[in-house]
Amino acid sequence: MLLLLGATGYVGQAFAEELTRRGTPFQAVSRAEVDYTRFEPLRELLKARRPKFVVNCAGYTGKPNVDACERARAETLQGNVLFPMSLAHACSVTGIPFGHVSSGCIYSGAKIADEFGRVRPEKDLMVPGVRHLVEQHPTRVHGFTEIDTPNFSFRDGPCSFYSGTKALAEEAIAGVGGGYLWRLRIPFDEVDGPRNYLSKVQRYAKVYDNVNSISHRRDFAKASLDLWERQAPFGTYNITNPGWVTTRQVVERIKTRLRLHREFEYFENDTDFYHSAAQTPRSNCVLDSSKLKAAGVLMRPVEDALDEALARWTPEQK
Ligand SMILES: NC(=O)c1ccc[n+]([C@@H]2O[C@H](COP(=O)([O-])OP(=O)(O)OC[C@H]3O[C@@H](n4cnc5c(N)ncnc54)[C@H](OP(=O)(O)O)[C@@H]3O)[C@@H](O)[C@H]2O)c1
Repeated sequence: MLLLLGATGYVGQAFAEELTRRGTPFQAVSRAEVDYTRFEPLRELLKARRPKFVVNCAGYTGKPNVDACERARAETLQGNVLFPMSLAHACSVTGIPFGHVSSGCIYSGAKIADEFGRVRPEKDLMVPGVRHLVEQHPTRVHGFTEIDTPNFSFRDGPCSFYSGTKALAEEAIAGVGGGYLWRLRIPFDEVDGPRNYLSKVQRYAKVYDNVNSISHRRDFAKASLDLWERQAPFGTYNITNPGWVTTRQVVERIKTRLRLHREFEYFENDTDFYHSAAQTPRSNCVLDSSKLKAAGVLMRPVEDALDEALARWTPEQK
C-alpha cells in the first residue's frame, strides 16, 4: 500500500487517477483527517499504516498564482519547506521511502551554446539577441540538468518567494532518507480548468511570451511512479516532456487544433508584463530530462503531449 498526501490537489488528483488505473493499492490522506504537515502526527501515521512508499503532492502554491505567496510567506515557508523537512525525516526514521513533488521553477533561462560549442547560462531568454538565437538555432539551447545549481532561488535572486521556498526545500531534504525529488513544470492536459496551463493561456487578457519546458500532468504522474516501480536510484529528476516551447508556439497550436479564430494579444516586454499583470518575478526556463530517460523512463516529446491534450480537449462546463 502507498500513502498519498495532497490527493485533493491538482497534482495529487493525477496521481490518484494513475494509481487507480494501475491497480496499485493506495490510501489518500487529507489534512482534514490527520494533520500530516506536523512531524509527530505524520510519524504516528507512518508507524500505524506502514506504507511501502509515500507520495507527497501537498504544498502551498498560492492561488490564483504565486503572487499570493508573497502575501502569505509564513504559510508558504511552512507548506513548502518545513513540512517537506518533517516528511523526509519522518520517512527516514520509519525507514519508508518517499517521492516529493518539487518544481522546475527554481531555474531561470537556459544554457546557450556559442558557435564553438561553449555553453554559458543565460537567465533571460527574451533579450533580443538571445531570443533570436532561440528561434533560429534551437539546437544551441540546452536545459538545466539536475546537477546545475538553481539560479532562481534565495541564494541566486531575484526570485519569487514561492520559488525560493521550493529551492530551499530541495536543499534541506536532499539526502535525508530514501527519496525522489520529482521536478514538475507548468502542468497541462486536456481537462480545461483554472490550473491547466492551456486554459490559462486562453483566459489571459494578454499573453506573456517566453520559453519553457512543461509537463503533461498525467505523463508527470506516470513517470514519477515509474521511477519508483523500476527502483531507479533515489535523487532529483527533471520530469518535463522533452524539449521546450515558446508561449507563441503554444498559442498557435491552440488556435490551429481548437479552430479558434480570435487574435491573442501579447505583452510588449517584461516592463509591460510586470507593470500590469504580475508582482513577483516569474521563472521561465528550459530543463534537461535526460536523467529520467537514462533511468529507463520515457516521456513523449512536448509537441506530441500538447497535440494529444488539444485533440482530447474538454471545455469546462460553466
Ligand atoms: N500546480 C503547479 O503549477 C505546480 C508546478 C510545479 C510544482 N508544483 C508543486 O506540486 C505540489 C502540488 O501542487 P498543486 O498545484 O496540486 O497544489 P494544490 O492544488 O493547492 O493542492 C495541494 C494540496 O496540498 C495539501 N496541503 C497541505 N498543506 C497545505 C497548505 N499549507 N496549503 C494548501 N494546501 C496544503 C492540500 O490537501 P489536503 O488539505 O486535502 O491534505 C491541497 O489539496 C506542490 O508542492 C507544488 O509546489 C505545482
